[in-house]
Amino acid sequence: MPAKEAKPKSIIDSIMYSYSTSSNPYEEENRILKETINRLKEEIERFKASPLMVCEVREIFGNTAIIRIPNGNQFLVNLSNECDKLKSGELVLVEQKNLTVIKKIPITRRFNVEKFVIVEKPTTSWEEVGGLDQQVREIKEVVELPLKKPELFKKIGITPPKGVLLYGEPGTGKTLLAKAVAASTNSTFIEVVGSELVQKFIGEGAKLVKEIFEFARKKAPAIVFIDELDALAAKRIEVGTSGEREVNRTFMQLLAELDGFKPLDNVKVIGATNRKDILDPAVIRPGRLDRLLNIPIPNPEARLEIFKIHSKNMNFDRSINIGVLTSRMEGFSGAEIKATCTEAGYFAIRSDRTFVTKEDFLKAIDKVKEEEKAEGEDYLGMFG
Ligand SMILES: Nc1ncnc2c1ncn2[C@@H]1O[C@H](COP(=O)(O)OP(=O)(O)OP(=O)(O)O)[C@@H](O)[C@H]1O
Ligand SMILES: [Mg+2]
Repeated sequence: MPAKEAKPKSIIDSIMYSYSTSSNPYEEENRILKETINRLKEEIERFKASPLMVCEVREIFGNTAIIRIPNGNQFLVNLSNECDKLKSGELVLVEQKNLTVIKKIPITRRFNVEKFVIVEKPTTSWEEVGGLDQQVREIKEVVELPLKKPELFKKIGITPPKGVLLYGEPGTGKTLLAKAVAASTNSTFIEVVGSELVQKFIGEGAKLVKEIFEFARKKAPAIVFIDELDALAAKRIEVGTSGEREVNRTFMQLLAELDGFKPLDNVKVIGATNRKDILDPAVIRPGRLDRLLNIPIPNPEARLEIFKIHSKNMNFDRSINIGVLTSRMEGFSGAEIKATCTEAGYFAIRSDRTFVTKEDFLKAIDKVKEEEKAEGEDYLGMFG
């Protein structure tokens, strides 16, 4: 009678089942609590672990290595067994107390240069530059001609300069010129700001300079525009603090790049500064940025030209004597002349007009003058 036999078995099963389910809540809870404790213990351990330092490998000697810690000091240290096959230049994690190398960081630290510098193809035309005829001619000779007709230089047998240094007061058109020459040669325009290079990327400035030039060669024809060059290349009497050492390393790398790449490499360097007086002469030595172009405050004719450029699309009575206006702008930079036009437009807007009058321009000139004066006082105030 198989059915009869089966019945007791299923009863036993169900009894065992109910026994095990009824006795289990405690065991189960115990198990869960144990697991939680273990997890928390692990977490505490993780919180207690001392951080590892990121260092750069300089050289390997068997199972020891010279590493460079972030402040620039170098040490000879032991390697853990886990990290064979280290190469110099790689990043590693290092124990803080005895600096033993624990393991390699699998990422190679390459900058995505485009994230750190401004890269563009400018569309500025020569017509937008007012007054700087001689400077335009020279920059065409030094930058445009070698990029457009390298064979000319080969035939004659000279190597063109690697770049130019534009120096002069703020707002006189240095950046504008650099962009115009980039546009006329259809070059990639890579803009780097000297002060940013040394302040934002502490410890990485030199590396970044190297990568910027590598990037420029890839994107050639290219123009590397280094604004505020003085922040990088100022004369230093004594290299003392680590900040200065850092600036110095970045500057050295810049010189190395200038010396390194071949002159007809289709990469030109344009530096700009307001402070040529504090510049380290090393950067303007022959073979580097050896052409110096002074970008002056515009003279009366240049002022007129620049005014025409910026008022070109403005709605005003063309019979106004603009010579009288620009003669009142004595000492204005190109940027200030542009600001005058904008301000004049605002005066018109404020009096509900859609055209600009001579009075608007005169008021605007006064306003820009006031601002300049206030700025000058602030500047002097800085020195007490
Ligand atoms: N010679 C000029 N002709 C026409 N516009 C000019 C001229 N100079 C300056 N400007 C106007 O002023 C703006 C600012 O000039 P720019 O940025 O080239 O000055 P900069 O010399 O680079 O100044 P900074 O030293 O402050 O960097 C330009 O975008 C342009 O509109
Ligand atoms: Mg500029």
